[in-house]
Amino acid sequence: MRCYVEPSPAGGYFVRLRGEAAPLSRHDTEDEAEAAAAAYERGLARTDTAEHVVLADGSEVRLRPVRAEDKPLFARAWSRLSGESVYRRFLQPRHGLSVGELAFFTEIDHVDHEAIGAIDPAAGEGVGVARYIRDRERPHAAEAAVVVIDDWQGRGLAGKLLRRLTARATENGVRVFSAHLLASNDAMLSLLGRLGEITVTRRNGPTIEVDVDLPVELPTLEHTLRAAASGEVRHRLPPP
Ligand SMILES: CC(C)(COP(=O)(O)OP(=O)(O)OC[C@H]1O[C@@H](n2cnc3c(N)ncnc32)[C@H](O)[C@@H]1OP(=O)(O)O)[C@@H](O)C(=O)NCCC(=O)NCCS
Repeated sequence: MRCYVEPSPAGGYFVRLRGEAAPLSRHDTEDEAEAAAAAYERGLARTDTAEHVVLADGSEVRLRPVRAEDKPLFARAWSRLSGESVYRRFLQPRHGLSVGELAFFTEIDHVDHEAIGAIDPAAGEGVGVARYIRDRERPHAAEAAVVVIDDWQGRGLAGKLLRRLTARATENGVRVFSAHLLASNDAMLSLLGRLGEITVTRRNGPTIEVDVDLPVELPTLEHTLRAAASGEVRHRLPPP
């Protein structure tokens, strides 16, 4: 993957990804755009913070929270998603991700909006993402959604992503996942059913809205290490 800077016809500068029609981001100055392009390249080369996971068929992925510099991964993965998968995820046809949508999906606070991405380490490509966005009116609830690119579906990847997303959600005080999906989406219903009992809260033509109470998860290793670093868990250790 290669990123480059180009003046935008409407002013400012775009960062573009070779082979993709839509720009990744827009910046007021050329320097800012060059800095963003360099950050995208560095982000693509980084593997240090990802968790290595082997799926049921033996294929390998790396899982980690989504970062702002992941825009090239999102742009490339989008072009590998079928129209049907896009429809199932967004409940309407969509033709690409705008600069604003790429920013929305990648520039997240990891508390009210969290996303766990999966990367194919062999190709360096994004292959799936699970995300929650907290509901402002019901702060203990968050809307969850998962998408896995078509070539990678049916290998258990969504289950792995959703499990890690659930752990992050419970750490952040989310107790209920809601989802808006096609009533015929058996794969997603099966995934949500593994978390807890599904309650249908609304039916609208072919779509349903559901709530799932999240299981109480053990803290993740990352959370425990953070707490240990801050001294929070020191008193739990036995005396020497
Ligand atoms: C839904 C989706 C995320 C599942 O991803 P995946 O990686 O293929 O899922 P997994 O391999 O972890 O399988 C999850 C479960 O769905 C089942 N499943 C997978 N594909 C299925 C299909 N086409 N029909 C029925 N069940 C299916 C699996 O057997 C598994 O069931 P289990 O829990 O009983 O073992 C993926 O199909 C996708 O991206 N679809 C398009 C977007 C979408 O629908 N998102 C959900 C709405 S937010």
